[in-house]
Amino acid sequence: MIAYLTERTRIIDETLDRLLPPATTSPATLHEAMRYSLFAGGKRLRPALCLAASEACGGSVEAALPMAAAVECLHTYTLIHDDLPCMDDDDFRRGRPTCHKVYGEGVAVLAGDGLLTLAFEILSGACPTARHGTADFVRELAVASGSRHLIGGQVMDLEGEGRPTTAEQLKFIHESKTAALLTASLRLGALAGNATAEQLEAVGSFGYALGLAFQVIDDILDVTQSSEKLGKSAGKDVAAQKATYPALFGLETSRAEAARLTREALDALQIFDGADARLGDIARYLLDREY
Ligand code: IPE
Ligand code: IPE
Ligand code: MG
Ligand code: MG
Ligand code: MG
Repeated sequence: MIAYLTERTRIIDETLDRLLPPATTSPATLHEAMRYSLFAGGKRLRPALCLAASEACGGSVEAALPMAAAVECLHTYTLIHDDLPCMDDDDFRRGRPTCHKVYGEGVAVLAGDGLLTLAFEILSGACPTARHGTADFVRELAVASGSRHLIGGQVMDLEGEGRPTTAEQLKFIHESKTAALLTASLRLGALAGNATAEQLEAVGSFGYALGLAFQVIDDILDVTQSSEKLGKSAGKDVAAQKATYPALFGLETSRAEAARLTREALDALQIFDGADARLGDIARYLLDREY
């Protein structure tokens, strides 16, 4: 699995390098900052899921590369903004000082904006398939990353700090801030693979459950791992009194919930009859991850 993900990371990074303006493009500070955060060594989970979803639907890796690059650009923008002093106020990300620590807050905000906008420029150049057109690609990412999903989730996350949160509210935060983009990454891969309605639905259900599991595990790792291992500041959620699964239910129940959600995700793949092997492997790998 590690070898597979390393190889996928290589293909994804080559694509990103090709699609991003060179660091010398004026204004150089901005393009350097965009590249600084993007090439800092993320897990490339969302683009890897995107490529595997295209293959599960009978499509190719090549067709899904623009979608994979777009979701990684969009994800990296959310991390840059998430780390800003006005949000989670983090100094450390992907094993390096955060974007605003190196380039200042103004350039970090704008580097995030640059990556967000570039994601849609890239999607607009992706090839339509027999069943799905460019507008479908753009809409998929726009809805998932917009105010009713990802951005809304980030707002609820901030508003939840230091406040009592119900299980239902917490699930809503996690669905919005994390599961929506994971689901869109998978659905975009499926669209690139010319998915049928049934395949799209299955990949979406897988993404939703996997996305929730992913954030539950992220919450657990914040409590149980070191900053060195994570490449980002550990222990921040307790300090900021964030609404998290361990805070609400404790570690053991959170671990059981992550395992249950992963099983739910795997169940959604049954219709693929074997073509989904990589998606299943990634889901199991993520449940056991240490960073
Ligand atoms: C971190 O995502 C933000 C969350 C939604 C939990 P990742 O854990 O995928 O971060 P990178 O891309 O590997 O840095
Ligand atoms: C981040 O959630 C979600 C998004 C960036 C959309 P967290 O705030 O838990 O992510 P980390 O732990 O800082 O990576
Ligand atoms: Mg946050
Ligand atoms: Mg954060
Ligand atoms: Mg976190």
